[in-house]
This record gives sequence, C-alpha cells and structure tokens, in this order.
Amino acid sequence: MDMYGIIEKKRDGGKLSREEINFFIEGFTTGRIPDYQASALLMAIFLRRMDKEETYFLTDAMMKSGDIVDLSAVHGCKVDKHSTGGVGDKTTLICAPLASACGVPVAKMSGRGLGFTGGTIDKLEAIPGFSTQLSPEAFIAQINRIGIAITGQTAQVAKADKLLYALRDVTATVENLSLITSSVMSKKLASGSDAIVLDVKCGDGAFMHDLAGAEEMADWMVEMGKKAGKKTLALITSMEQPLGFAVGNALEVEEAIRTLRGEGPADITELSLAIAGAMIYAAGLTDSLEEGQKRADHALQAGEGLARLRALIEAQGGDSRVVDAPDRLPQARYREEIRAARDGWIQAVHAKRIGAASVHTGAGRQEKTDVPDPAAGILLAKKIGDPAAAGDLLATVMGGSRERLQLAAEEVRRAYVIGDAPVQPPALMLKKVE
Ligand code: URA
Repeated sequence: MDMYGIIEKKRDGGKLSREEINFFIEGFTTGRIPDYQASALLMAIFLRRMDKEETYFLTDAMMKSGDIVDLSAVHGCKVDKHSTGGVGDKTTLICAPLASACGVPVAKMSGRGLGFTGGTIDKLEAIPGFSTQLSPEAFIAQINRIGIAITGQTAQVAKADKLLYALRDVTATVENLSLITSSVMSKKLASGSDAIVLDVKCGDGAFMHDLAGAEEMADWMVEMGKKAGKKTLALITSMEQPLGFAVGNALEVEEAIRTLRGEGPADITELSLAIAGAMIYAAGLTDSLEEGQKRADHALQAGEGLARLRALIEAQGGDSRVVDAPDRLPQARYREEIRAARDGWIQAVHAKRIGAASVHTGAGRQEKTDVPDPAAGILLAKKIGDPAAAGDLLATVMGGSRERLQLAAEEVRRAYVIGDAPVQPPALMLKKVE
C-alpha cells in the first residue's frame, strides 16, 4: 500500500478501505506522510466525497490517533455537548450548569474559537482568574466533587484532527460532510463521555445552509456516535442570525449569567433549555426530551443553574463575584454605535457578517496565534422581525482600537438588511435526530 495509490484511487472516485484510511491517518500523524500528499487526498475527498462507511473508518482512525480520555473514575452517565459552531452561541455556559444541577455529570472538553465562531474556552477565560488547563486528575476530581468541569482540549486528543484541520483551513477543504463529521466525532468519541448531544447549526452562519444538508450531517454524526457505542442525539437549530444579543467573550459571559438568572433573551433561553433537557434525557434521567427540558426549566427557575455556574467558576480559580456583579468582567475602552439609515423592518442580521465584525473588534482570531481581547465584541439592539425607525440603534461595537472598530462597524452595517415588509423571526428549533 502506498499513499500515491490511495490518492489516485480517491481522485478517480474509488472507495477507500479501512486499511487504506488507517494507513493514511497513522502515516500522517507520525509525520511519515507529508503535508502535500495529505492535502491532495483531502482535496480528492472533498471533490469525490466519502460514503458513510468510509467516514466511519476515518472517524475511528482519527479517534485512535491520540489519547482516549478515561472517565471511568467519574460516577454516573457522563454527557458531552457539542455545537457545530455559531455566532453568539454561549449555550454551553448555560446548559452545562443546568444539566449538572439536574444530576448529569458534565465532563466538558472545549476548544478555542476558529474563524468567526467563538470558543467556550475563550469565553471562560474572560472571567478573571479562570483556569482552562486542568490536569486529567484535577478534571476528574472536580466532576466528582461539584458535578461539572470544563477544560481546554489537549493536542493529544484526536491528534490527527488537529493536524488535518490546520491543512483543511488553508486548502479550502473544510466544508465537506465527511471531513466535518469525522473531525467533530473523533474528538467527541475520544473525550470519554458516555453520551453525546449535538447541536447541528443550519443557516446563513453555519456550515450547512439548508435543512436537508443539516439533516444529513446530524444523521451521519448520530450514526458515528451510535456505532461507537455512545448514546448520541442531535438537535438541528437555526443559525440565520446571531444567538441572543451579545457576541464577544465577556459580553457573552454576561448574557449567560443573565440567562441563568431567568432574564436572558428568548432564543438563548429556549435553546439552552432544549440542550440541557437533551443532556438530562441522554443521561437516562428522564424518559423523554420534553421531561428533561421540564427539569432543566425547573432548575433555571430555582436558580440552581446559576449556583452551579458560580461553583464552577470558584472551583477553577475564577472571580465568582462576576455572577452578582458582571461589571467586574473586562470592559472595552471604545464604543461605536450603528444606527438605522431608514424606517422599516429588520429582514436579516447576517450571522457570518456579525461574526466577521466581531473578529475585527478583536474578540476573535484572524490568525491561530492571535490572543482575543476579552472585552471586545458587539451588542445587538435589533433582531430579525423588529421594527426600526431611521436613527434607531441597531448595534454597538466595542473594543480597544478605534481603527478596528471602524472596520467592525462597516461589517455590522452590511449585516443588517432593513425592508418595507414586516417579517416573522426564523424558527429556532428545527428538528431532532435520534
Ligand atoms: N468543527 C470541527 O471541530 N471540525 C470541523 O471540521 C468543523 C467544525
């Protein structure tokens, strides 16, 4: 077997065997197969596609390419949650404490933001003192002690994914069903939880722009999880416009805290309760998703989710006073307001543009090595379906550089579309796949 033959086979539309896929992943991870051959194969996969079986072999090989986390020392059915990426998506900060408060041990390994989507680890690091680097022993001990821990994903988990993602990012091969599915699921399967809840995004700001594409992705991911022996379910949810009003690390932490107080935006509250409910159901604590959601709602009303977030922040060395006084979170030096140029109704708030604007503010990364500004971001004032009069506030951009805010403001202006006809806001919860 050689790499040239494998590339040639996929280039010509052939189906790769488990042995060929293992040969590629093993050889690439150990440095035997060079980047140029890996890139050629990625492009061949992108153009010729892989079927479900090849995708399963790829997922399995990638999962085994690094450490497999052993969470057997954590009592109970551990549930992980993953979103395929969204703008303003701070749901982990809400649904993880809620599920934990309802008795689900939450062992969450999260990533940093890439491109225009923010990562949970970047958000948590906006809390002064919060440590996102727990040793495996500290991670397990904390879950057994308080029911929740959130740590950064190490480079050793699904090693092949880290290397492949870096290549995909610069060879225009990210947006492929098999490559996304194997990338997400190899990491989730190596992270040691017993059950996985996926939030597959659909719409303008997502990899999948239409429901059919999102359904296919959800279906494939769920099947990969089940084949690996994990209870897996997916919710397909809208990413037509940013979630909530806050986009940016400290701003999103503040919105998450408000949501756990019961004062959050309707969309974030609805989505967080649905995901927390799915986690409770996946843990086997209820017989239905609906019942799980009711429990999560109860925990929200009783303030138990907020108490669990406070315990999480304290346990990981953060300043938990931010829970009562969010103004202790980093504050931006400069602000600029974007106002409506005409009367009408908000037809669109393009999530991708808002994401790009947040990168301009300094909240995200342009290069992998960039350090996000925790205080930077965007506070939206209007969402799809809202009426607007000329001069009304649409959004405020915030950050540490006036020049960067100019670029961000331009992008935010382009994100908003105001038209004459009233419109309905898009439905948030689109489908569930079990
Ligand atoms: N998120 C991932 O982890 N991998 C992908 O390929 C896309 C999104």
